[in-house]
Amino acid sequence: MKVLICDTEAKAAHRAAELLIEVLQSKPRAVLGLATGETMRSFYTHLVAQHSAGRADFGQATSFNLDEYVGLAPDHPGSFHAFMQTALFDHVNLAPARAHLPRGNAPDPQAEAERYEGEITAAGGIDIQLLGIGRNGHLAFNEPTSSLGSRTRIKTLTEATRAANASAFAPEDMPRQAITMGIANILDARACVMLATGAAKAAAVARMIEGPIGADCPATALQFHPAATIILDPAAAASLSLTEYYEAVHSGGAE
Ligand code: GLP
Repeated sequence: MKVLICDTEAKAAHRAAELLIEVLQSKPRAVLGLATGETMRSFYTHLVAQHSAGRADFGQATSFNLDEYVGLAPDHPGSFHAFMQTALFDHVNLAPARAHLPRGNAPDPQAEAERYEGEITAAGGIDIQLLGIGRNGHLAFNEPTSSLGSRTRIKTLTEATRAANASAFAPEDMPRQAITMGIANILDARACVMLATGAAKAAAVARMIEGPIGADCPATALQFHPAATIILDPAAAASLSLTEYYEAVHSGGAE
């Protein structure tokens, strides 16, 4: 794992966005794995600004998001479709037909999960997968005890995750399940970039990078990935033990 500790949250988000831009520049037909969550807002703001500046062309790119809530139509304001629309899709030249998310309100969610996985395979797999991390160490919606060999499927959300994501919903509307790529799908990506910022993520980040691999913290599976870059701000890096080493190798988050 490459661990980059940037001085500020904004610099961390820019750094992550620049890695995705590098992929787009070297491979215009890139398949991008995208993520949602509050952490990603400044990432997308930077990406959109760089698109406006002519540095990020999505004209030939394809995208696949990690997950979507079961039961939500794409136009539900709490859906990840809606998040992506306002954070990115409305502002860049990514063809709507090539911007994929699982369909939360599909009549048969498990069949939808299988169809979605087939689309990723048909597109040739993901070149770069953006990731956040849940406070409990989840990746996408792979909650603790998810199989580290899991594929796209339905997962029931923990109460902690439901509480963390509740602000977009009326209390009775907060979904209980999601369609999510599995850990094995994430490990299939040719490169992974995780962006984690803020003190609330420090414990999960330390466990993911330095702790034992285990299904109680699904993000630890990233230790198996040969090309995973973890981009942190100082607050998210605060519980790491080997900070001196990371700083020596990548001073100030530099390559
Ligand atoms: C959700 C998403 C994850 C994301 C996590 C953290 O659970 N499914 O992909 O990493 O939230 O989100 P936030 O950035 O809001 O803390």
